[in-house]
Amino acid sequence: MSNPPRLGVNIDHVATVRNARGGDVPDPVRAALLAEEAGADGITAHLREDRRHISDDDIERLMAALKVPLNFEMAATDEMQAIALKHQPHAVCIVPEKREERTTEGGLDVARDENRLAHFIAPLRDAGCRVSIFIAADRSQIEAANRIGAEVIELHTGAYCDAHSEGRFEDRDRELDALREMSTFAHSLGLEVHAGHGLTYETVGPVAAFPELMELNIGHFLIGEAIFRGLTPSIHEMQRLIKEART
Ligand code: PXP
Repeated sequence: MSNPPRLGVNIDHVATVRNARGGDVPDPVRAALLAEEAGADGITAHLREDRRHISDDDIERLMAALKVPLNFEMAATDEMQAIALKHQPHAVCIVPEKREERTTEGGLDVARDENRLAHFIAPLRDAGCRVSIFIAADRSQIEAANRIGAEVIELHTGAYCDAHSEGRFEDRDRELDALREMSTFAHSLGLEVHAGHGLTYETVGPVAAFPELMELNIGHFLIGEAIFRGLTPSIHEMQRLIKEART
């Protein structure tokens, strides 16, 4: 049995519920501290350009309150780079961002924007942040992420999860094979491999089983599940399934 991947809990959607009423509750920082207490290995938060969920103040308070590492998700913009450099979180995950999308729909096209991204991540690395790039399971994107100097890639599991929930099982298995193969490929280049997006109790096991996988970042499903069984038991069940996948 190898060490199971770390679990990063994404608390964005606690802020989504808060912002639906415009007040202070529920507080995503309180959720983050509860997740930390439940044994989460890290907390992930995405400060979007339109601030639709996490706010600048949330990031400030997370940095002050957390003992576990903060994985700061952001688009590759000058504004976000300045915020990341101000806070210097443990990790920065660069994601694509479109205003009209409901969630992060695809991976970053690193191959198309290689030169700019190489210059963009250099100061973040110099400031001591571990830079991760959120990409599809695609060989050319992984090679480009490696060339620009990223230390970590996060594989986008959305297509695999969508195929599962829509009952397209052949597509799901093909997506899973691609994720597994690209996890091995990225690891062979010396990149640390993470994965996330759309994962649930039903879909997490086969991904957690990838031997090279070091971290899973899971949010929406866990926050939803917390309505029914509470955040701590929801996290514990996810950790149990992750661990089981490695035994
Ligand atoms: N990883 C990345 C890079 C993401 O952008 C997201 C969504 O914000 C997640 C993981 C978590 O996805 P989900 O909320 O669907 O579990």
